[in-house]
Amino acid sequence: MFTIKNIEKSFGDFKALNNVNATFEKGKTTVIIGSSGSGKSTLLRCLNLLEVPDFGEISYDNETLTFSKEHKLKTNKKLELRRRTGMIFQSFNLFPHLTVEENIKEGIITVQKRNKIMAQQAAIAHLEMVGLVDQKDKYPHQLSGGQQQRVAIARGMALKPDVLLYDEPTSALDPELVGEVLNVIKDLAKTGITQIIVTHEMKFAQEVADHVLFMDKGEIVDQGNPSELFNHSNNPRLKQFLNRINH
Ligand SMILES: Nc1ncnc2c1ncn2[C@@H]1O[C@H](COP(=O)(O)OP(=O)(O)OP(=O)(O)O)[C@@H](O)[C@H]1O
Ligand SMILES: [Mg+2]
Repeated sequence: MFTIKNIEKSFGDFKALNNVNATFEKGKTTVIIGSSGSGKSTLLRCLNLLEVPDFGEISYDNETLTFSKEHKLKTNKKLELRRRTGMIFQSFNLFPHLTVEENIKEGIITVQKRNKIMAQQAAIAHLEMVGLVDQKDKYPHQLSGGQQQRVAIARGMALKPDVLLYDEPTSALDPELVGEVLNVIKDLAKTGITQIIVTHEMKFAQEVADHVLFMDKGEIVDQGNPSELFNHSNNPRLKQFLNRINH
């Protein structure tokens, strides 16, 4: 379980996150929705310290990291949290000069310090999960965007993080490729992995989420299970957002 408390993050004078509190349950899928600029990516990046919060706390297992301007986080703590999180980006971010299999093996060898044979076995096993074993010797540019994103997910999973973070995993894809990536994420949700997903795909959000967070102007202004949030919320800002998306 991940818990964040009173997270704040500013860029210059602009407060991108303001007093953000949330709990991400183990084995559950949380979806973060909200309009452009509401702070979704910033929150996700704070969870694996690609951005370091100005204030607040991040807790996982028995560990609590406390942030403040005065107190500088130790590098080993930062690396520890990063190791526990896997990030899937909009633009896949595969290594272009490595094959599909090598892309997955790389982190297993360098981060997990496992030998080449074990890395290869893990790579194949994770490619099987996303249905791409037959593509293992290709380079990223020889794959469709949907296939590249599935490789990126396999690569993230192979490092056995406590939580997988996705920042708009399908928004760079042609519409006909979105479904195959969403299906992989839905299948993973059933395996008991913890996932946090920023997405504009509302139908997918309703289907996959155990819990939904709605962000507006740097704050979480509503949250609940999909049915509560999408069908029964009285929050005017959420209603306005959903209306805008639906039309
Ligand atoms: N590195 C940065 N420097 C300055 N401002 C930033 C930086 N990162 C984010 N911001 C600002 O913080 C706000 C929140 O940005 P963020 O990327 O978190 O929004 P978002 O909800 O992910 O939006 P989108 O749906 O468009 O991806 C925006 O106003 C953005 O311009
Ligand atoms: Mg974003």
